[in-house]
Amino acid sequence: MQTLTTLSFRDDHAVILDQTALPYRRATCTLDSLDAVAHAIRSMQVRGAPLIGATAACGVAIALRNQADDEALAQALDRLAATRPTAVNLRWALERLARLLRPLPERDRAAAAAREAHRIIAEDADTNRRIGEHGLALIRTIAAARPGPVRVMTHCNAGWLATCGYGTALAPVYAAREAGIPTEVWVSETRPRNQGLLTAWELGESGVPFNLIADNAAGFLLARGDVDLVITGADRVAANGDSANKIGTYLKALAANDNAVPFYIASPASTIDFGCPHGGLIPIEDRGGEEIRQLSAPDAADCLRTVHLANPEVACRNPAFDVTPARLITGIITECGISAPGALTDLFPEHA
Ligand code: MRU
Repeated sequence: MQTLTTLSFRDDHAVILDQTALPYRRATCTLDSLDAVAHAIRSMQVRGAPLIGATAACGVAIALRNQADDEALAQALDRLAATRPTAVNLRWALERLARLLRPLPERDRAAAAAREAHRIIAEDADTNRRIGEHGLALIRTIAAARPGPVRVMTHCNAGWLATCGYGTALAPVYAAREAGIPTEVWVSETRPRNQGLLTAWELGESGVPFNLIADNAAGFLLARGDVDLVITGADRVAANGDSANKIGTYLKALAANDNAVPFYIASPASTIDFGCPHGGLIPIEDRGGEEIRQLSAPDAADCLRTVHLANPEVACRNPAFDVTPARLITGIITECGISAPGALTDLFPEHA
């Protein structure tokens, strides 16, 4: 079902699918330096919380091939940690590498970092399959209760493009497809970066029926009874279940709640920040006004053009994420099962 590899790591370099070229063009980039990896994450050539974490792990391994003393290690970790603030998978991956590498002699660090990066990549795909299996149970229940495809609404892109395989929010949809249960996905555009176009492309590639909608159409569709459940990903889930995800997720959760439509977050344990007590403490990335004022897309002759939707002097604010409070979340689908948002430590007692 997954047609392309988002990240492949070859020890001295990583090859990524360049998501800034999608959905118009398939292109890959070779990342062979710390600079290149940091740029790829910051510019969103790679994006999506799990993929950001895995790419950063490769970045550490690549950086240590030249120099692996304590200073070089600290520099690589700091540099990568500063690329994007909200997705906690970035910090999770870097801390995992730091714990492993700091006690090792310099000469062993690059190889150990490379092995760990490979492990993180492999684990992510496996974790997401398990999220898919748990989410499938929800889809099965709905499918058994009414005829026709199960109508899932999602936001942003939390599919295989955003991970090392299979996706998080889309994992239950893919599991349903494998189980022969028809689904239909409402895909919201996700202004201003339009990650919904990535989701539309990915679902099309994977043979899952979908409809692309303007972000503003979501409330109407939820109120009209056209949605059976909402599943989105997350960039950071606080210990109390408050969940940061792409800007616009909160509005979907509000509208879902008002219309008694279940609203789920799909998130691996690596996205849960047990050290963050509530969503008010989650750092929210501000990406600047250019993304709102400009749009790049191919013209009729398939030539990539940047158009100006607003004049350069128009003041803009561009918070890239919002926080959906736990009270609006029906459940959090993890690789270990589905949890009520306030009871995550029941699934992960080591964090109690
Ligand atoms: O800014 P992005 O495109 O990196 O944001 C991505 C999201 O918000 C996803 O929903 C989230 O990272 C989960 S990806 C499995």
